[in-house]
Amino acid sequence: MNRIRCDQTPAWARLQTAFDQSRPFDLRKAFATDAQRFETFSQSAPHVFADLSKNLIDTDTDALLQDLARQTGLEAHRDAMFSGAAINTTEGRQVMHWLLRTPPHDPAMPAQSVHRHMAETLHEVHTTQGTMLAFAERVRADATITDVVNIGIGGSDLGPQMAVLALDEFVLPGKRFHFVSNVDGHELAAVLKKIRPEHTLFLVASKTFTTLETMTNAQSAKAWFEAQGGTDIARHFAALTTNVVAANAFGIRTTFGFWDWVGGRYSVWSAIGLPLAIAIGAQGFQEFLAGAHDMDEHFRSAPLAHNLPVRLGLLDVWYRNFHGFSSRSVAPYHSALKRYPAYLQQLEMESNGKRVDADGQTLAYGTSPVIWGEPGTNGQHAYFQMLHQGTDVVPVEFVAVKTPKHNLPGHHTLLLANVLAQAQALMLGKSDAGGHKHFTGNRPSTFLLLDELSPTSLGALIALQEHRVFVSGSVWGINSFDQWGVELGKVLAKDVEARLQTGHVDGLDASTAGLLARVRAS
Ligand code: F6P
Repeated sequence: MNRIRCDQTPAWARLQTAFDQSRPFDLRKAFATDAQRFETFSQSAPHVFADLSKNLIDTDTDALLQDLARQTGLEAHRDAMFSGAAINTTEGRQVMHWLLRTPPHDPAMPAQSVHRHMAETLHEVHTTQGTMLAFAERVRADATITDVVNIGIGGSDLGPQMAVLALDEFVLPGKRFHFVSNVDGHELAAVLKKIRPEHTLFLVASKTFTTLETMTNAQSAKAWFEAQGGTDIARHFAALTTNVVAANAFGIRTTFGFWDWVGGRYSVWSAIGLPLAIAIGAQGFQEFLAGAHDMDEHFRSAPLAHNLPVRLGLLDVWYRNFHGFSSRSVAPYHSALKRYPAYLQQLEMESNGKRVDADGQTLAYGTSPVIWGEPGTNGQHAYFQMLHQGTDVVPVEFVAVKTPKHNLPGHHTLLLANVLAQAQALMLGKSDAGGHKHFTGNRPSTFLLLDELSPTSLGALIALQEHRVFVSGSVWGINSFDQWGVELGKVLAKDVEARLQTGHVDGLDASTAGLLARVRAS
């Protein structure tokens, strides 16, 4: 399909002119001169309301950004993804995580599909999902299983971990969930201290079933299980993988499969979501999928001007390439969203951290911002100082939830007051003769509001983030669905591992050689 690189479009040059002419854009003046600004720059999407009005944009810029999207072929690219085209070109794969949340007999399906077997694939998805959800229900009903240990890393850890923590209020009492990702043995050892083999289900989650960390942890867990007298591997170990053959060779008979068209960081909707399905049940998991599907439909069909993932993705481009902002801080004002920033780090930075376009040509502009953050209000007492008065401008993306799940008096009002006040303070600033107490203000933020944190709204929020990453990646002309950048370190680690055994440093750079010798010295 024909993708035009953003810097080769007329809109790109016009955006540069608009940027140069509108400086300095002042949010306070923008509000003072436009009584409709909040309405113009707010957007309802399924299960998520977004206030974009405290961003450094006006209606002209907004229109130009939409032109940019059109001129780069964003809509055709989006439609290609939803039709099953192999848009992950460097790996020759389709990108169809959205199919995992498509209901059976979706009437839109055959018309959209260029992929002859899409209906059969959807059928296969639902059959596999049915088996996985039935297993989840059996584990839930089995009172002898008190601990579920997920062994996986990257997308095989961050998605289910983030979601199980986020939906803690919906988790079945009597089950504990542990997530082991790091090859650092401290992590697994700490979990093993807390569990008994006869009460534990280990889930070995790995798309490839070759990842060093996961295989090492899985081997050690199995060795521990057997050393503790555990015998029934079939009952106490299950694998979540596209590589069932390798899982069988490992000795695991209970396997839940998925497909190569599900990227690791997009896999929480697949068998990789099994810990979540056990935690919140089949019905809860289906609500999670349904919330995401609602967002898919919004992304697929809403006009660009009222399409929330499109508006967020275009803002990302505006900030990265015209304002030169190199990071975005994520501030979820909900303590259960504590792994949400880490989840978004992989989603954005592994997807869009690329320096060449889809044809391998070097880019002359920036791509993925650095994503970082912590739940509020904690961040306020750590790094918000820099957000308010530092030399760099960092757009902040707040997430707040209207209704809490606890009934402790006062807390939620204070929480909401703080998140609203932070967004307000960033924008308004405070004049104090330019000294230590001066706040420049005019610092941009986006405010995402959920009615409540539920399986449905979490599904919609995560799908929103997936699609906004698609939008910016598409405009930047890159392949957001490969991750070659993680390979070099893996290869070198094998070589260094051997050298750590032997002490051979020949051919190594002086720094690595020096460190290796120090690490080995007794
Ligand atoms: O090393 C990066 C990566 O490939 C991620 O993209 C992926 O989510 C993670 O490793 C885990 O991979 P797997 O599920 O195959 O173990």
